[in-house]
Amino acid sequence: MDQATVFAPATCANVAVGFDILGFALNAVGDTLSVRKTKEPGVRIKEITGTSEILPLDPALNVSGAVLLRLSEDVTPDFGFELSIHKGIPLGSGMGGSAASSVGALVAANALLEEPLSRNELLSYALLGEKIASGSPHGDNVTPCLFGGLTLTRSLDPIEVIRIPVPDDIFAVILHPHYRLDTRLSRAVLKKDLPLTEFVAQSANLAGFIAGCFTQDIPLISRSLKDVLIEPRRASLLPGFFPAKEAALSSGAIGCSISGSGPSIFAWAKGRRKAEEIREKMVSAIIQEGLTCDSWVSGINLDGAHLLS
Ligand code: HSE
Repeated sequence: MDQATVFAPATCANVAVGFDILGFALNAVGDTLSVRKTKEPGVRIKEITGTSEILPLDPALNVSGAVLLRLSEDVTPDFGFELSIHKGIPLGSGMGGSAASSVGALVAANALLEEPLSRNELLSYALLGEKIASGSPHGDNVTPCLFGGLTLTRSLDPIEVIRIPVPDDIFAVILHPHYRLDTRLSRAVLKKDLPLTEFVAQSANLAGFIAGCFTQDIPLISRSLKDVLIEPRRASLLPGFFPAKEAALSSGAIGCSISGSGPSIFAWAKGRRKAEEIREKMVSAIIQEGLTCDSWVSGINLDGAHLLS
């Protein structure tokens, strides 16, 4: 095998109640990365397409390149890696773009190396990519991107990831208003000390959400999918968020909150038709705020990053 091409899905992190620990992967959006073996050892980025922004081709300055450089140092293959990256995930959107870039590159490189690394080992390299991208090695995007589905990252050291079952017929609506929010800034507004009463309410919601997923109890999920801790502190960075959320909930969404560190917004709905209806209402609400957006209705991606060829 001289070349491997991987689809790495977009992800929604936090899922309202699991800051830095919960995330789910999407079918409808993702990055595509190809890695080719080269005779010269080392890592080279040939091209980055799918975005109008000029991104660095120096591998040390790019998350995909940086994680492959670290992998090469550790595995010392007798060949090099040449990367071509197609960004399907908008940059700075809160849809796990940096996670998809590093996970996709790692899964492709691992295929060329004939898969010496386990998924947990790949995850530890992908976490390095998150640290480079945002200053914090949070696992709530890279884990669902790599494993698929809805994941709970219970611990990073040692790595412990739990797959949470997604109730039948759940569709996600994702709305990406056309502005960028840097994860570092979105994290900077969060204080280190939080009130105990809010911690208790958020813990109850997290427990209720997980219990609802295991028992397919949609009303319980709906009552629980409420972020009392992070969303109120970030909302001021997110023009259009409250009107879009109100539109989602009044149209019958199970829940709605910020996707990752924003500015994208996600909602869960039962059934594709309901999700489409909610998407239309959310888009209208955003347009009324004088903003433009992209939007998707997506099933939950249960496979995670996978080889296309
Ligand atoms: N859990 C992270 C945050 C996700 O909300 O900052 C960032 O992609």
